[in-house]
Amino acid sequence: MKGEKRIALTGFMGVGKSSVARHLSSILRCERVDLDAFIERTERRVIPEILTRDGEPAYRDLETRNLEIVLSTTNVRILSLGGGTWTLERNRELINRYGLVTVWLESTFEHCWANISKSRKERPLAKNKEAARALFDQRQAIYCLADWHFIIRPEFTSYEIARQIADEIFF
Ligand code: S3P
Repeated sequence: MKGEKRIALTGFMGVGKSSVARHLSSILRCERVDLDAFIERTERRVIPEILTRDGEPAYRDLETRNLEIVLSTTNVRILSLGGGTWTLERNRELINRYGLVTVWLESTFEHCWANISKSRKERPLAKNKEAARALFDQRQAIYCLADWHFIIRPEFTSYEIARQIADEIFF
């Protein structure tokens, strides 16, 4: 394995960050943290409730605070971010400061939207297709700042994507 690399997975909602992270952690036999789940555990509230009741700016503050907690208190090697985490400069600085390699799971809007529509996960920022598409278009240039880009084709399983990332980045 190449050193003790730590990676952060980014990409739009519905691209499969959490599933790929789950497979990666079992392939590499190392721990992973899902930032959304971590926030929900520490805040004892679900993200849709935080977003709708407190608003997005308050949610983003919590997200940054929890990101910093994960980075400063754990040595976790696989971190799956929320779809908006990487879009904030202060979060990118933190991730870079802690030396994580960032991986963008890149896919088409239609693929992400198909997954969002069939998922049971509530996503207040992607309530309808138009809102989701606007966010998707707006974020592409920022996701692009990640160190690695992996094009996700719908026919690939999450396991196959994780295997490819493990082979290219870790072995
Ligand atoms: C968000 C994505 C969600 C979650 C929150 C905000 C976003 O995570 O963090 O609803 O801004 O794209 P997923 O990308 O895991 O759905």
